[in-house]
Amino acid sequence: LDLRRDPMQQNIILRSQVMFATREYLTSKGFLEIETPTFVKSTPEGARDYLVPSRVHPGKFYSLPQSPQLYKQLLMVSGFDKYFQIARCYRDEDARGDRQPEFTQIDMEMSFTNREEVLETTEGMMQYIFKKTLNYNLPVHFDRITWEDAFDLYGSDKPDLRFDMKMQDAAFMAELADFNAFKAGAANADKSIERHKRSGIKALVVKNAADKYSRKHIESLEAVAKTYKAKGLAWMKIDAEGIFEGGISKFYAGKEAEICSKLGAEKNDLILFVSDEKWQVACVALGAVRKQLGKDLNLYNPADEFHFAWIIDFPYFAWNEEENHWETEHHMFTLPQKKYWDTLESNPGAVKGDLYDLVLNGYELASGSIRIHDIELQKRIFRICNIPDDVAQQKFGFLLDAFKFSPPPHGGIAPGVDRLCMILAGQSSIKEVIAFPKGTAASSPMDNSPNWVEDKQLEELGLLIDEKKRTTK
Ligand code: AMO
Repeated sequence: LDLRRDPMQQNIILRSQVMFATREYLTSKGFLEIETPTFVKSTPEGARDYLVPSRVHPGKFYSLPQSPQLYKQLLMVSGFDKYFQIARCYRDEDARGDRQPEFTQIDMEMSFTNREEVLETTEGMMQYIFKKTLNYNLPVHFDRITWEDAFDLYGSDKPDLRFDMKMQDAAFMAELADFNAFKAGAANADKSIERHKRSGIKALVVKNAADKYSRKHIESLEAVAKTYKAKGLAWMKIDAEGIFEGGISKFYAGKEAEICSKLGAEKNDLILFVSDEKWQVACVALGAVRKQLGKDLNLYNPADEFHFAWIIDFPYFAWNEEENHWETEHHMFTLPQKKYWDTLESNPGAVKGDLYDLVLNGYELASGSIRIHDIELQKRIFRICNIPDDVAQQKFGFLLDAFKFSPPPHGGIAPGVDRLCMILAGQSSIKEVIAFPKGTAASSPMDNSPNWVEDKQLEELGLLIDEKKRTTK
């Protein structure tokens, strides 16, 4: 009955048009649509796998692919030099408005390619889809922002660029007064600050908002910052005479001219600050406040504004605090940028990857990279990520073995169909563009899956359920 409603009908029709336009565009560019298996070997790719027990091999499992990543790379080794697939992917991860346990990607890969070609092909495809479905003209090229700048200016690697309001570095505030909370931000205690040489004091100037934001209202913004680990949200207003008032203004009385000129602030503006010893924490927290302000102040039209951008130059490795080792930001098959090849092991934290994300209106729409096609380099990455050679061979032997047969240089990308359709349809949940989506806890309200199976089926599979773990509902 839900699907009978006109908005759902329109969304599902739009989705069909998106798939058709995708096929038209990619086929016209010489891509072949090739299906890859959905019963595959379990290989780590970030999320937990969904597993399928084998009856013929009791105790063994297939896994449902988190993406066709390794298969598309094998297709490149096989000589199909332009591949795409509208591929179902499966990930057992926490649900969110823009995530489903099963979802669809426009999965693409090209041989003898480079970043430029992948980005241009994707731009062309998005232009075609937007034109065909909404009659909307996208720019020929999308903005490019480095990962560091994305965090530094917008506090996110998926910034909403429909409105400007950039964050600024406010390290100078710690020198101008003896205000305790700013000392931490200036202290550079974080490894990442050293890496980026940026301070942990970030400022946001909200134009003409002094009157609009009461103390109570600012407290609600502070609550947003705190959910992103900020210790607080410092603020001051500039009154009609250009004098600071409220919040932390008493520490900065008389310093109006200097601060306003450095931050580009004027009468009636509101200035917000987050200070943290970690640059990234300060950026993310104030970035969340920025996002909230964009919504509160109607700084964009939610119905039909589309601002794409590429995020490039991502750090290659991220430190896993719990397990105490490096892991890759994207996936382990991504090529580290060449200038870091000699220092991968000695300085992993500085390495940048040849990877790129496409963002749209504050969502990550696609991720991709140029891949490693050299066994030795691939093994070095595995080792840095705490995967010794024998384990790598056992887990990824089929890829490493293929790399013995002159693999071409290759790279690709995978835009998410559900997120793309959600944004095209002006929705904020991907459930609105999926026929029969999963609900909370990955269960289906339509057929009540997952559900019990007959004892006989379990027996055939050689499976016993741990009664202590059995869900009773
Ligand atoms: P990644 O894991 O970043 O990359 O996924 C690519 C895109 O798929 C979509 N997506 C999702 N959509 C809905 N629900 C989910 N749970 C979900 N997870 C991901 C997003 C995301 O940007 N193999 C690589 C791609 C590559 O390197 O070519 C990959 O899967 O839109």
